[in-house]
Parts: sequence; C-alpha cells; structure tokens
Amino acid sequence: MKVLITGGAGFIGSATAKALIDRGDEVVLIDNFNDYYDPKLKHDRLDIFLKDYAGKFTLYEGDIRDTAFLEEVFAKESIDKVVHLAAMAGVRSSLLDPRLYEEVNVRGTLNMLDAAVKHKIQNFVYASSSSVYGNNTKLPFSESDSVDTPISPYAATKKCNELFAHVYSHVYGLNTTGLRFFTVYGPWGRPDMALFGFTEKITSGKPIEVYNFGNMTRNFTYIDDIVSGILTTLNANLKYDVVNIGGDREEKLTRFIEVIEENIGKKADQKLMPIQPGDVPSTVADIGKLRAMGWAPTTNIEEGIKNFVEWYKGYYGA
Ligand SMILES: NC(=O)c1ccc[n+]([C@@H]2O[C@H](COP(=O)([O-])OP(=O)(O)OC[C@H]3O[C@@H](n4cnc5c(N)ncnc54)[C@H](O)[C@@H]3O)[C@@H](O)[C@H]2O)c1
Repeated sequence: MKVLITGGAGFIGSATAKALIDRGDEVVLIDNFNDYYDPKLKHDRLDIFLKDYAGKFTLYEGDIRDTAFLEEVFAKESIDKVVHLAAMAGVRSSLLDPRLYEEVNVRGTLNMLDAAVKHKIQNFVYASSSSVYGNNTKLPFSESDSVDTPISPYAATKKCNELFAHVYSHVYGLNTTGLRFFTVYGPWGRPDMALFGFTEKITSGKPIEVYNFGNMTRNFTYIDDIVSGILTTLNANLKYDVVNIGGDREEKLTRFIEVIEENIGKKADQKLMPIQPGDVPSTVADIGKLRAMGWAPTTNIEEGIKNFVEWYKGYYGA
C-alpha cells in the first residue's frame, strides 16, 4: 500500500507517517514548510523524529494550491490512499487572514479531491475539526448534530471540506472520511497550541493567559490515539462519512494546567481572561461511531502531558 500524506511535516502528519511505515506501507509526503510556526520544527520532525526512517519515505516540498505540482506527484507515484492533513490550522489566526484559509483549506482540498478522483484513489481520509460544532450547546457533540453555524473562518473551511467530500463521494464514487479531531496534543506538537505555550511560559517564569476565566472543557486527544484513529478509518474505506476522534475524558482546562505544573515542577502565574473571538468554551466528543469500528483512546492527560514535557525539555534543552 502506498499512502500519500499531505502536511507530512506537520504534527499529526509526521506521527502518521511513522505509524504507516511501521506497519509496512510506503509513504509519500507533501509539505510546503510554511512559516505559520517555526519551519525548523517541521524539518526536525522529519530529520530527528523520523531519523530512523530516512530513506523509507519520499518527500515532495510543494503547495497543495499548485495543481501542476500535485499532478506531478500523483503521476509519478502510484498512490493507493490519501491522508490529507495539510491546512492552515489556527482558529484565531483565521480571523486575521480568512482569504488565506479559504485558499489553502478549501481550494487546496478541492485540488486534492480532483487529483484523488483522477488517479483512482481507494480512500481519501482528510482532517476536519471539532470546531465545526461551533457554539452548539448539546453535549457531547455527535456527528449527527447540525453543524451549520461555524464561528471562525477556520471552522467554515473545515465544514466546506466535508461538503465537497460529500459531492465527490456522491458524484465520482470517491471514498471519503472526514476526521473531526478534538484538541490534539503530545510530543512534537504545535507551538501555537495551549500545551506548548503554557509549558514554554511556565518554564521561563512568564504569566499564562487562561481564557474564559478557566471555564473551558476539552476532550484532549493524545497524538497516538489520533494516529490509531486515522489508521482505523484509512483501513475502512467508507463511502462517505465524518467521524469524531476525541479523548474519552472531559477535562477542565484548570486540571490540564495543574498536570503541566506538576510535570514542570513549578506553579503557573495565571492571568484570567475573557474568551477569545472564534473560540468555544466546551468541546466534548461523542466517540461512539469510531469505537464501533474497534478504536478506543488509551492515553490520559497525566501520561500524555508527562510525555510532552519530557520531549519539550529534551528538544529545547529547558
Ligand atoms: N492539532 C489539532 O488539535 C487539530 C484539531 C483539529 C483539526 N486539525 C487539523 O489536522 C490537520 C493537521 O494539523 P496539525 O496539528 O498536524 O497541524 P500542522 O500545522 O502541524 O500541520 C499541517 C502541515 O501542513 C502544511 N501545509 C500548510 N499549508 C500547506 C500548503 N498550502 N501546501 C502544502 N502543505 C501545507 C504545514 O507546513 C504543516 O506542516 C490540519 O488540517 C488541522 O486543521 C488539527
């Protein structure tokens, strides 16, 4: 099996590449190494995290907005399945540059869907997001809930991806599964996300901003559980579906911070702030659908944050 991963130098993409190579698949990566966050981290994921896998994957540096580039990759490699993760991924920054989010996330995904149909891809698994649930108040969030009221440009692009995937499944018979990831965390994670920022600031004695005055709940999902969910849906070849992937414990943000403090061995200087535009106070996943496919999350925040802080200290020499 040859699998193409877009966003292959990203947090989730690099971890997915490792798991696919481990199970014997051939892996092709696409990434444009943009500077939304430090591209060095993206290069290091490939050079350090995937050090023992050098020569076991093929990397194409390029942009999913570039259809000629995509055609070159698909024509050269005989791809069987696609894991499409490349995207502009920040909720808050999408408010600053909605057009860029539309270009990369909507048109880029459309380019990928076109290429997948043309090259007869068996299964197209792509990243959606829990943010599509917007300010829905019925918890936990279920795939059958209405998601017609996104509250950030980022969420709107992810909802758009689900709509286009449905069109391509229906009209061209392309198998597609959209994965609604719930707050992913773990080693080699993204610097723009809470765990990374909190760890950095607590370590260096700077105050942390705690939004919605700490009244936030999340199903934090450990990277290994996300990867096993991706593999489960990649194997399943569903005709069209969207699936939640979230941890099985509803965690308060305050507890999350406590576990970070315990692992760093230092108390945080907390600045309580109102909720940010585009952000949602609570995301809790109904994970029944993916569980029914044989998947279950296995890592709690106590173990997951410990792994992250250990990695952070090693990587930054903190
Ligand atoms: N991490 C989370 O908590 C989370 C939650 C919900 C959804 N998601 C989605 O999962 C996917 C992966 O997220 P991640 O956390 O690994 O983010 P990431 O930013 O680490 O990875 C995305 C990768 O895509 C690449 N990329 C961006 N634009 C590109 C383009 N135009 N062409 C080629 N490559 C491009 C980036 O360089 C990056 O390496 C994204 O689609 C994101 O929206 C992530």
